[in-house]
Amino acid sequence: MDSDFFSVDNLAITFGGLRAVDRVSFTINRRSIFSIIGPNGAGKTTIFNCISGLYKPDSGKIIFKGEEITGLKPHRIAMKGIARTFQNIELFLRMTTMENLMLGRHIHTKTGVWSGSTFFRRGSKAAREEITHREQVERIIDLLDLQSARDQFVGGLPYGTQKLVELGRALALEPELLLLDEPSAGMNSEERQDLTFWVKDIQEELGVTILLIEHNMQLVRDISDRVLAINFGRPIGEGIPEEVQNDPEVLKAYLGEEESIDAVS
Ligand SMILES: Nc1ncnc2c1ncn2[C@@H]1O[C@H](COP(=O)(O)OP(=O)(O)OP(=O)(O)O)[C@@H](O)[C@H]1O
Ligand SMILES: [Mg+2]
Repeated sequence: MDSDFFSVDNLAITFGGLRAVDRVSFTINRRSIFSIIGPNGAGKTTIFNCISGLYKPDSGKIIFKGEEITGLKPHRIAMKGIARTFQNIELFLRMTTMENLMLGRHIHTKTGVWSGSTFFRRGSKAAREEITHREQVERIIDLLDLQSARDQFVGGLPYGTQKLVELGRALALEPELLLLDEPSAGMNSEERQDLTFWVKDIQEELGVTILLIEHNMQLVRDISDRVLAINFGRPIGEGIPEEVQNDPEVLKAYLGEEESIDAVS
């Protein structure tokens, strides 16, 4: 375990007077699974947006492998090895699964993802590079059991499968830290069960560290090493899953959230 792997220190961001994230700090050990929970509007996605560079925090520091990355542009952060999925799927719906995953590899491409296939010259650098990328993408397709969706347009796939393609696209970047924003939302229980195994596999077999936002408390309990609960942008509890999920303040924060009360208790 390496406690210098990733940390957020006193992160804060305000939107027109609303403190969406208010002095949030946490540390993630390398190769662990860390979850952020909290009611709707608590500030979870905003934390992801600060980490991935979409928002520039008002204050606080984000440190990745000993280096401060606060306020860097999204592509710089991606190149450093941090990939994410979005709460609302962001894929190219008129492209196939394979094509979407190939685009996920763009930061590793020196000659451009498409140059190898469009002007194919046998043995050229671009052609060799393209073959390596395709092999990597095929590995991810196998890992996530996406063979049947491989050549289908993403727009025609069931929602749960689209969520998996998005996970695959993020993995194609070969991240060291993977941010997953509600990966199981809209999945049925079987898909959610599969997702639990895949996320564990990604952590254990690929050695990827995972930062997860998730409303499904069973999933959180099954896979998290540590959990941080937030409400109104503020941390209200941190620890192992059972500890946080039974914390009176955390339970109180969920009161009034029908879906989540059942999930927590
Ligand atoms: N770009 C923005 N401009 C203004 N307000 C924003 C912006 N982004 C987020 N917010 C506000 O910040 C608060 C936190 O939003 P956020 O999306 O982080 O919540 P969340 O915990 O991810 O909720 P959910 O579980 O519903 O996804 C909300 O009140 C939201 O309306
Ligand atoms: Mg959110």
